[in-house]
Amino acid sequence: MTLLLWLSSWSNISVLGVFLTVFTVLVDFMKRRKKWSCYPPGPVSLPFVGTMPYVNYNNPILSFEKFRKKFGNVFSLQNCWTNVVVLNGYNTVKEALVNKSEDFADRPYMPIYEHLGYGHKSEGIVLAKYGHVWKELRKFTLITLRNFGMGKKSLEERVTEEAGFLCSAISSEGGRPFDLHLLVNNAVSNVICTITYGERFEYGDETFKKLLTLFENSLNEEIGLLPELLQVVPILLRIPGLPQMIFRCQKEYIDFTEMLIEKHKETWNPAYTRDFTDAFLKEMAKGNEAEVNGFNRTNLSFVTSDLLAAGSQTTSTTLRWAFLFMLLYPEIQSKVHKEIDKVIGRNRPPTMADQANMPYTNAVIHEVQRCGDIIPMGLPHMTYRDTKLQGFFIPKGTTIITNLTSVLKDETVWKKPNEFYPEHFLNENGEFVRPEAFLPFSAGRRACLGEQLAKMELFIFFTTLMQKFTFVIPEDQPRPREDGHFAFINSPHPYQLQAVPR
Ligand code: HEM
Ligand SMILES: *[C@@H]1O[C@H](CO)[C@@H](O)[C@H](O)[C@H]1NC(C)=O
Ligand SMILES: *[C@@H]1O[C@H](CO)[C@@H](O)[C@H](O)[C@H]1NC(C)=O
Ligand SMILES: *[C@@H]1O[C@H](CO)[C@@H](O)[C@H](O)[C@H]1NC(C)=O
Ligand SMILES: *[C@@H]1O[C@H](CO)[C@@H](O)[C@H](O)[C@H]1NC(C)=O
Repeated sequence: MTLLLWLSSWSNISVLGVFLTVFTVLVDFMKRRKKWSCYPPGPVSLPFVGTMPYVNYNNPILSFEKFRKKFGNVFSLQNCWTNVVVLNGYNTVKEALVNKSEDFADRPYMPIYEHLGYGHKSEGIVLAKYGHVWKELRKFTLITLRNFGMGKKSLEERVTEEAGFLCSAISSEGGRPFDLHLLVNNAVSNVICTITYGERFEYGDETFKKLLTLFENSLNEEIGLLPELLQVVPILLRIPGLPQMIFRCQKEYIDFTEMLIEKHKETWNPAYTRDFTDAFLKEMAKGNEAEVNGFNRTNLSFVTSDLLAAGSQTTSTTLRWAFLFMLLYPEIQSKVHKEIDKVIGRNRPPTMADQANMPYTNAVIHEVQRCGDIIPMGLPHMTYRDTKLQGFFIPKGTTIITNLTSVLKDETVWKKPNEFYPEHFLNENGEFVRPEAFLPFSAGRRACLGEQLAKMELFIFFTTLMQKFTFVIPEDQPRPREDGHFAFINSPHPYQLQAVPR
């Protein structure tokens, strides 16, 4: 009797087992990609997990290097059921972003940000689907940044003023060894914070330190296998409390920016536009028409936190690379010093008008961006419609990774791709030239919205500090590492320097 029971329950289980297996294989089969002809090659995709087991998500660079060697410049991956195509090399990336700009202009939906309020109704700019609202918000943001004649100061004056504060803060280190990280970050964030929220943080401010830590931790929360898995199997995000636990810092970061906006609304006066938030509130007040174009309170917080997120860490990381290269290559540093002395002198602050007369310094800054290569894999794109690229067929809705490293260090374009060599940007007469493969801001419709501002900041901050100081490696410190640390952004390893007044 017991044996019979045992047998019957065993067969129940096995029937259930067979059923489940058939069911899952069927689901997998249905969700797997169709066999398109001319689809880019890639590693063999396994049931469910696709090609994910082949990638080391803590150091994806190495795995991708292998795929490129094996499959060529355009290869495909499958993250569970999401199709991904990786583009390598200047020609490929340019064809996609520039020639077929609209085909590649969409962004994949990011379920991992839903717990922050991101969703089909509000997406900001950076992660917004390609379409009407994204266009309106992007246009508005560009115009508002450009016309920053609102308020009392122009954008350039603000940047120059902040660069002056940064110089004083560095002077007060009294030539002792220190790490620039926090100060530079504070200065750069202040520029974007005054523009968007009308707030700046004193150097050393505790709230700011907290904000910076939150931001850096949020970046770290997004790398690794788990976030990648949640992105492609979003149902896991329904596990109560899971997103809040994994992405705790992101949430705190958003709450913080939310507070800045709320504070703002209390003091809002429609007759006087102080900053970007005010300009947006003013647009919102226009009512229904504006609402259709995306000017809604939820989008306000995403657009402004986008600006802060996209505009602070990027620029300040680039500046940290700049001073690192100055430490490592003193002869280049002294050439920059000479040019500054010749064109600007020691007494007046640099202005953007000087840039045209300073080809060497300009070349150095460009080379810093090329070598620093701070966003190695760009931001993910998605195909907006079926398209062809380099003879391959890529269907609508495919996630596209543009490998910016492979462009900035393309051996077929750059003379010394893996060296710091400012001459990449100078012709034989010593004039500034910009090779087309210089794409740290990406290209096409989705190219960096802050490019102009970023260039202004890089030039003004860099020349202002170089005018005042010579940067040297402290005697007791090792030579800083030249390779980067990758967490979405490629940043230098922490290093110490001494700023010797000139
Ligand atoms: C050195 C500094 C910077 C670098 C290297 C940089 C680079 C980039 C890159 C590679 C992208 C992705 C483009 C694509 O999807 O193909 C991007 C997008 C973006 N950047 Fe920057 N960026 C910098 C500074 C800034 C600043 C200062 C701002 C803010 C004013 C900003 C705002 C944005 C925005 C809003 C986007 C999203 C554009 C869209 O999806 O339509 N960036 N940036
Ligand atoms: C991008 O290109 C570089 C240089 O070829 C390579 O080392 C890296 O693995 C590539 N990354 C991706 C994501 O394909
Ligand atoms: C992209 O466009 C440029 C200029 O319009 C053209 O010279 C080039 O051949 C095009 N490239 C491809 C691959 O279509
Ligand atoms: C917010 O902007 C997104 C695009 O960024 C748009 O799809 C959405 O409709 C907007 N939401 C509202 C409520 O206006
Ligand atoms: C913004 O849009 C959301 C979703 O459409 C809506 O619920 C909310 O009331 C709107 N907010 C404002 C201030 O118009």
